[in-house]
Formats: sequence, structure tokens, C-alpha cells
Amino acid sequence: MKYLIVIFSLSLFSQTKFEKAQKAQTDFLNLHFFEKGRGMTISPNISKYLSFFRTPYSKEYKISDNKRSFYKKVLQDRYGLNVLKDQVAGLFNIKYKGMDVGVLGCVACHGGKAAGRFYAGLGNKTIDVYKVGVDAKLIQGAWGSLRKDPEFKKIHKVAMNFSKVISDKSISNLTRGLIPDSVIKTYFYKDAGLSYKGKISRAQVKVPHLWGLKQKRKTGIFWGAEFDGTNIGWEFGAELFASDSEEHLRAVLPKLKESVENIVYNIQAPEYPFEINESLARAGKVLFDNKCSKCHGVHNRGTDGYPIYHQPKFIKASIVKTDTDRLKDYFEYKALVEASTVSDILPMNQRRDVGYVAPNLWGIWSRFPYLHNGSVPTLFDLMRSPDKRPKVFNMFDAGEAHRFDKNRVGLTTNKWGSSKFKQEYRLARKGNRNIYYTDREGHSNSGHYYKFMKLYSDQDILSIIEYLKSL
Ligand code: HEC
Ligand code: HEC
Repeated sequence: MKYLIVIFSLSLFSQTKFEKAQKAQTDFLNLHFFEKGRGMTISPNISKYLSFFRTPYSKEYKISDNKRSFYKKVLQDRYGLNVLKDQVAGLFNIKYKGMDVGVLGCVACHGGKAAGRFYAGLGNKTIDVYKVGVDAKLIQGAWGSLRKDPEFKKIHKVAMNFSKVISDKSISNLTRGLIPDSVIKTYFYKDAGLSYKGKISRAQVKVPHLWGLKQKRKTGIFWGAEFDGTNIGWEFGAELFASDSEEHLRAVLPKLKESVENIVYNIQAPEYPFEINESLARAGKVLFDNKCSKCHGVHNRGTDGYPIYHQPKFIKASIVKTDTDRLKDYFEYKALVEASTVSDILPMNQRRDVGYVAPNLWGIWSRFPYLHNGSVPTLFDLMRSPDKRPKVFNMFDAGEAHRFDKNRVGLTTNKWGSSKFKQEYRLARKGNRNIYYTDREGHSNSGHYYKFMKLYSDQDILSIIEYLKSL
């Protein structure tokens, strides 16, 4: 009887965690921070004519075949948004003062596909904010030029600034799937009344996974953990530059805190959806615990079967040796933030060194391409010497089922020297935005290669991969 009660209460507990995780998936899909005309918006009333701006998300919503093919060609293939059945993740139509305002939600970037499945809380692998910016600027420019209404003009101005910054060729992303952190920095230059031109690097990163954030905040916010996570403000980083105002950030702080605590903290890492070879995984765990866990920590589960997240470690750039473009102008940036009007709610960490967090590896199978700049297509390549890692790979359809490589875990790539490879290489050198090319600025695939990895056989690597699938 006693055991029965224990089992019963355990299953009750795990069910609530499961339910919370399910609820977080839908709640996060519907989350945005439009507030009194401020936020990541497009010019008013355009969204009235575009059916893909919809609120809220609903599985029941159906569209015609014509529309479906438009969604695929333009919204998915061109902009890299997540088209889910007949709706697009993270686009809203909000009624405000008699206008229809098109709004971009968190999940447009913080939702992504892997092996053909969509997960809120995983980073978007294909979004091309530069392309979104170029088109939005063009369309909005024409749309807003003749309007006189002050309420319209207010939102229009913010929307125009947003599209101008993300389409600025000198600081924007060069490949789809990467977001330029530079856009956040522009906010502080503007706040200080300075021009950012020629002063900041693109700092292109892949959108990070959000599970385990409660623990991660203790080390710091973002890949480089430069930002002090004790205050919730930095979680609004990406939205900051678009909202264009200090008041917006202050006004949404309570909602931000609530959303992070009640939605983001409940997001769970996605389970590997295919079979795992258990005995191979056990062998891999031994190798992992031996070396990798020094930086990445232990990965254990609670009695409910869910991951126990631990605070991740900060590793200096001189040790991990991955691309440093994102860290370049950090101390100038830090000084600007500390002198800004929002320094009280956006505190900085006070480390003397720059570097990257060694992230938790839960759900790592879904987080390809790997490293903060997404420069390594598979787990297999990540454990091999940088000169053996692919220099070019294709990011088109990166989250779709046909692009998933179950053996190496990550993106399918073409064999070195094959005709498809040569074709990709040519496209890469022409600057094609679908092709990840490691010679581009900030795209280096160097680092994260240690002496002990040199001793691994292919079989050792495959066993570690098998273990990583179980996380
Ligand atoms: C334009 C794409 C984009 C949008 C929209 C966006 N984010 Fe982000 N977010 C990012 C990127 C990129 C990073 C990582 C930046 C870095 O580490 O350098 C990030 C980082 C974060 C982090 C820190 C994660 C960590 O590991 O430290 C949190 C939390 C977060 N975002 C929450 C949100 C919330 C909440 C929203 C909605 C208000 C939002 N983001 C909207 C792109 C976006
Ligand atoms: C000396 C510390 C250290 C060791 C040892 C180490 N890592 Fe890492 N690892 C890091 C850091 C730091 C990063 C983030 C680097 C970046 O993003 O530029 C990272 C990133 C990763 C990533 C990519 C995460 C993502 O979201 O893209 C994976 C996967 C990974 N490590 C697996 C391993 C495995 C497997 C081992 C052992 C074979 C290992 N690491 C050993 C520090 C380490």
C-alpha cells in the first residue's frame, strides 16, 4: 500500500510537469510584448490584409492550397519562418486604437524545427532577419509615406527603424539561421546619441535553446554570459532595439518576469524521437563523464524522469578557442550599457575575461548546427579536428526531416569533392545566404578541440553521440 501511494504520487507529480511542459509549448507560441504601440511591429494596417498575421495560434485553422504554397515559398523558404500546418509561428495581428498592428512574437526566433518536428524553446534554424528587413523596409516605406495620422506615424516610425537596422548591410547576418547581436548594440549607441557605423561587429549567433534557463541565468545571460541574470531585463535583449524606447522595457518588466517564470521555466528539452542503442550509449556515457563533464557538468534525471538542470560553467575564450567575433568590442559595449538610461535594469557581469558558457547538453540532438555561431553541422564533426570539419554546408530546410542525419546527428552534408559539394562551394563563394561558409566573418569553425579528443576513434565518437541522444 505504501509503495502504491509513492508510485501514485510520483506519477501525479510527473504528470503535472508533463502538463506544464505541454502548456508552455502553447503559451510560448502565443507570447509577444506589444504594448501601447511599442514592440517588434510592422507598419499599422498592413497585417489586416495578410492572413498569416493571426491571433491566437489554433490547430483548427485551415487555409486554401494556393495560400499554403505561398506560405511555403515566401514565409518558409524565403524568410525561414516556421510554417506549422496552416499557420505561421510568432506572427500576430493586434487591434490597437482602431488599427491592426502586425507583431513579431518571441517564438518567431525561439521556436524551431528538428527532424521535421516543431519545438517552442528551440532556436529557429532558418530565419533570415536581413531578408525580412529588406522587404519590410521596402513595403512599409511605400505604405506609410502619405499617412498623416499621428498614432499611425508613431508606430510606423518604430517599424521603419526596426527594418532599417536589421537590413543594414554593414552589421546584418550573412547567412540564414544566424541573428546579428549587433542590432541589440545599436540601441545603446542610439541611447548615447552616437553613431554605431564602423564601431560594432556583426556578432552573428544561432538562437539558443531556452530549457534550463533558471540555472543558466546564474552564470549570465546570452552565449557569452556577459549580462547579469539576477535582473530579468536582459531576457528582453532582442526586443529592446525594436521597441526603441526605455519606457517600453520598464512597462513590460512585470509581464516579462511572469512569462519567464511561468512559461519559459516550464519548457523541457525535446526527447530524441528515434531509437537509441542503449549499450553503445552506456559506453559513451563513460567517456563523457570522464572528460566532457568537466566543463559541461553531469546530466542526471530526477525520480520523475525529467532532467535536473545545473548551473553551467563559464569558459574563457582562450580555452575554448571558438570564433571571437561576438566578443570583439565587448568592453566598449559594456561601458555604453553602464552609462545608459537603463543601466539599473540591465546590469553587466564584472568578469575580466570574455568567453562562452559550456551549455547544458539536454536535447542537444535538436540544437544543430553546433556552437554559438552554428558553424559545425553535426556532433560527429564537433569531436573531430577543425581542419576535418565541413567548410560549407546547406542551411536550407535545416529543420525538415529530410535534412536530419541520424548517424552523425545534425545536418546532412555532402561528401567532400562530390559534384553537389562543388556546387555548394561555388554558391558559398558567391555569398549565397543558404550556404554556411566558414570563411565568412564570424563563421569560423575553429576551437572546441582538446588533446583527449585526438585519441578518440570513430567508434568512441559514435558511442558519445549515442549517449548524447539520450539527453
Ligand atoms: C530576432 C530574433 C529574436 C526574438 C524575436 C527574440 N529573441 Fe531572445 N534571443 C535571440 C538571440 C539571437 C539570443 C542569443 C543572443 C546571444 O547569446 O548572443 C536570444 C537570447 C534570449 C535569452 C537568453 C538565453 C540564454 O541562454 O542566455 C532569453 C531568455 C530570450 N532570448 C528570451 C526572449 C523572449 C522572452 C523574447 C520575446 C520577447 C525573445 N527572446 C525574442 C533572438 C531573439
Ligand atoms: C574545456 C571545456 C570543455 C570541454 C572539455 C568540452 N566542452 Fe563542449 N563546449 C564548451 C564550451 C565553452 C562550449 C560553447 C562554445 C561556443 O559556443 O563557442 C561547448 C559547446 C559544446 C557543444 C555545442 C552546444 C550547442 O548548443 O551548440 C556540444 C555538443 C559540446 N560542447 C559537447 C562536448 C562533448 C561531447 C565534449 C567531450 C567530448 C565536450 N563538449 C568537451 C566547453 C567544453
